[in-house]
Amino acid sequence: MSIPVLTAVAWPYANGPRHIGHVSGFGVPSDVFSRYQRMVGNRVLMVSGTDEHGTPIQVQADAEGTTPRELVDRYSRVIQDDLVGLGLSYDLFTRTSTDNHHRVTQDLFRALWANGYVRTEKTLGAISPSTGRTLPDRYIEGTCPICGYPSARGDQCDNCGNQLDPADLINPRSRINGEIPQFVETEHLVFDLPAFSKSLASWLDTRTHWRPNVLNFSRRLADDLKPRAISRDLDWGVRIPLDGWQDQPMKRFYVWFDAVIGYLSASVEWAGRTGDPDAWKQWWCDPEALSYYFMGKDNITFHSVMWPAFLLGHNGEGDRGGEVGAFGHLNLPTEVVSSEFLTMSGSKFSTSRGTVIYVGDFLREFGPDALRYFISVAGPENQDTDFTWDEFVRRTNFELANEWGNLVNRSVSMAAKNVGAVPEPTVPDPADEALLAQSRAAFDTVGGHLARSRFKQAISEAMRVVGEANAYLSQQEPWKRKDDPARRDTILHTALQVVQDANTLLTPFLPHAAQKVHEALGGTGVWAEQPHREDAGVSGELGTSHSVLTGDYAHEQARWTSTPIPVGRPLSRPTPLFAKLDPSLGETGPSWAPIATDG
Ligand code: MF3
Ligand code: ZN
Repeated sequence: MSIPVLTAVAWPYANGPRHIGHVSGFGVPSDVFSRYQRMVGNRVLMVSGTDEHGTPIQVQADAEGTTPRELVDRYSRVIQDDLVGLGLSYDLFTRTSTDNHHRVTQDLFRALWANGYVRTEKTLGAISPSTGRTLPDRYIEGTCPICGYPSARGDQCDNCGNQLDPADLINPRSRINGEIPQFVETEHLVFDLPAFSKSLASWLDTRTHWRPNVLNFSRRLADDLKPRAISRDLDWGVRIPLDGWQDQPMKRFYVWFDAVIGYLSASVEWAGRTGDPDAWKQWWCDPEALSYYFMGKDNITFHSVMWPAFLLGHNGEGDRGGEVGAFGHLNLPTEVVSSEFLTMSGSKFSTSRGTVIYVGDFLREFGPDALRYFISVAGPENQDTDFTWDEFVRRTNFELANEWGNLVNRSVSMAAKNVGAVPEPTVPDPADEALLAQSRAAFDTVGGHLARSRFKQAISEAMRVVGEANAYLSQQEPWKRKDDPARRDTILHTALQVVQDANTLLTPFLPHAAQKVHEALGGTGVWAEQPHREDAGVSGELGTSHSVLTGDYAHEQARWTSTPIPVGRPLSRPTPLFAKLDPSLGETGPSWAPIATDG
């Protein structure tokens, strides 16, 4: 049966190029998952876009001496290039600055307002005493009132993960010039999060299949809910659709309020583009539909508490009830899948501290699949994980090139040289049957891990099949069987069948290489599709005059099953799949991200 599966991928801020830490959280895991789901025949809708509002954008625009508009136009393109280069198979990767997104955000807000889950409140807002301008939350730093971390930001503490109000900080100071902010009265919209204590807790109680770190963290957050301001004194963002607020230049929604609604607005935009404006409902309103949200751990609170509360509020399912809003009854997340941090020499990737490896640089030098492999096999799936060039070199050379690349290369080369085509097998030996049984069984084991987002276990199991096949070839020595061509051909046929199976198992992880292996095995057409940019300027209703990423994944041939390799299909000598890296890279790093030496 074909199940609708929504893959909701965290929206990168359009305030700079992405580094490999970012894409290890939201990017590669969500794509591996989506590709697997498509291969088993589910109807996947994978959506995201650039997060273009709020203080992170304003701060960077100020730093670059430009406007938020110019900044997001520039970086949304850079980010799209990175994500296309990595082969992330979005059905739609759009932007939060579209008319459609603004409208959907406002419609969802109206439901929360109508159900009484938002009120207005006079609160304290920070201003800079020297300029008189509003000091956005992120510009303020101080000691976290919850955990005592000395450099918590006004909006969030990076140490304990709690959301904060700048006025809560102990010893607040401006990050721009160190001055002590002044707090003045201003009116805000406040979301009544405590009115979801019961509904959130009982929903979280049903989420027993989540990764334990994500579930435990979310439960703790849900135990202690505080009202949250969802407006900001800012002139860049989604306007607030209320009388007296609508036209105020300095009142906008808080960026996280509109950003999480992006999952819904992008689905609506996608449907509009297909010509069936209601098509998004299959993923949002069908109770059988599944939804998986992928992100780094600093985003958990927004996806496991805030977004579900907005959805409950819209549905009229908060603790005080209400009416179903304009979108109809919306599904809550099936699972929030979060990674931990990819660090470099122990510190979180940080642009300011100079420990940064940009995706664009990485792809230009090493291509997408080496990075996808590294993140899948050695990434921060369950704990913070240090990236080192040394390990990257080892994984690429000894696993990708020596194990997988070499298996493909020697199997296809020998068959091409001796037969020129996929050889015909005769009576199989027990060794042949044992190997084939292993690779067939791997579809269930690897698939089971992938369905539960256990990427490390999944790829390790797939690579185990590759290892077994290499061991089989070394034992069977088909190159020494000139006097027994029937046996030699049976061995080669077995090896090619297992190459075909292993290639299928590795397709979600290594889609670019998978296409090449498909062709090396004599296959034609599209095995694994890649996304592309659509520069279209479809004008009108949806305001779709912006470029997006999308792809036509329906005609892919890759299916999650063992398909018999056709006997007699012509083969030629393959070109090597993966280039080996110079081991010195492990000591020095590349010139554009050299390893820092002490002293
Ligand atoms: N822009 C945020 C970040 O980079 C993520 C937003 S995810 C969203 O951390 F979908 F909620 F927008
Ligand atoms: Zn804290």
